[in-house]
Amino acid sequence: RPQLLIDTDPGVDDALAILMAHADADIAALSIAAGNVGMAHTVRNARALVDLLGGGTPVFAGCGSPLVRAPGEDAAFVHGQDGFGDIGLPAPKAAVADEPAALALLRLTRERPGELTLVALAPLTNLALALRLDPTLPQRVARLVVMGGAVTGHGNTGTIPAEFNIGFDPEAAHVVFEAFPSFDLVDWEATLRHAFDEDAFDRWLRSGDHRADFYGRIAGTARAFNRKHERRGIIAADALAMAVALDPAIVIRSERRAVAVELDGRLTRGATVVDWAGRRGAAANANIVLEVDQARFGAMVRRALGAAER
Ligand code: BDR
Ligand code: CA
Repeated sequence: RPQLLIDTDPGVDDALAILMAHADADIAALSIAAGNVGMAHTVRNARALVDLLGGGTPVFAGCGSPLVRAPGEDAAFVHGQDGFGDIGLPAPKAAVADEPAALALLRLTRERPGELTLVALAPLTNLALALRLDPTLPQRVARLVVMGGAVTGHGNTGTIPAEFNIGFDPEAAHVVFEAFPSFDLVDWEATLRHAFDEDAFDRWLRSGDHRADFYGRIAGTARAFNRKHERRGIIAADALAMAVALDPAIVIRSERRAVAVELDGRLTRGATVVDWAGRRGAAANANIVLEVDQARFGAMVRRALGAAER
């Protein structure tokens, strides 16, 4: 089973990704970022998930704001004011560790060099801080999988080409994209190509266990938002990235390219600029995931929800 370090800002699709990780891997720790909503909520939501999954997973609170500029808009308008659909969750029981997330990432990868896959499902603030403290971090992780970016400029928040995780803290993304010689990038545009049919997904939710019940309840606001904006199907960016982290063989089509983050542009800050034609001469850092096996992705999601086959 893969051993995962998950940096996350739960978040409805983060929650599905974490349920998938719990079903198919071992979660060494959850390191928590601000993003979808503020740190108080993302930490609380992570603890609620740990409770749901029976406890025991360490939770590390991270940096509550982007590295340089004041945060832009959060994503409460999608995920709910509390990030989990405002369903009135009870206070969680799971503990939060004392150690800051960036330090925990460094320590855990030192204790288990080469063993852990880092899965980044949030703005990259914690990873950037860890890298600035210790630039050798990339040598100690088995893989890095990032959910972020919009590789042909069809973004979803902030400037037109920016995707939320990159646009919320572009400087952090820049640090990470420069420091890691190789990582898998699962972008927003791939996410839209891998939505699930709503009726099928509802059948999975109905046949699932307590995890399906929980997910169905927290996903209400996000689903309503998507419907209102004519985004079809169940869209779960972080779940797609998690599928790639859990099983690299699920990838059907990908391209290795140099990807950089735009930090300045008035109309383009937060864009992921892909050197599709190889003009810059920079070494390719990202393996851009373009297509995965949707049937296998669906099977992973059903396992995560305890749902019946098909
Ligand atoms: C990303 O932004 C967040 O709202 C989601 O949780 C996901 O990580 C999608 O752009
Ligand atoms: Ca997320």
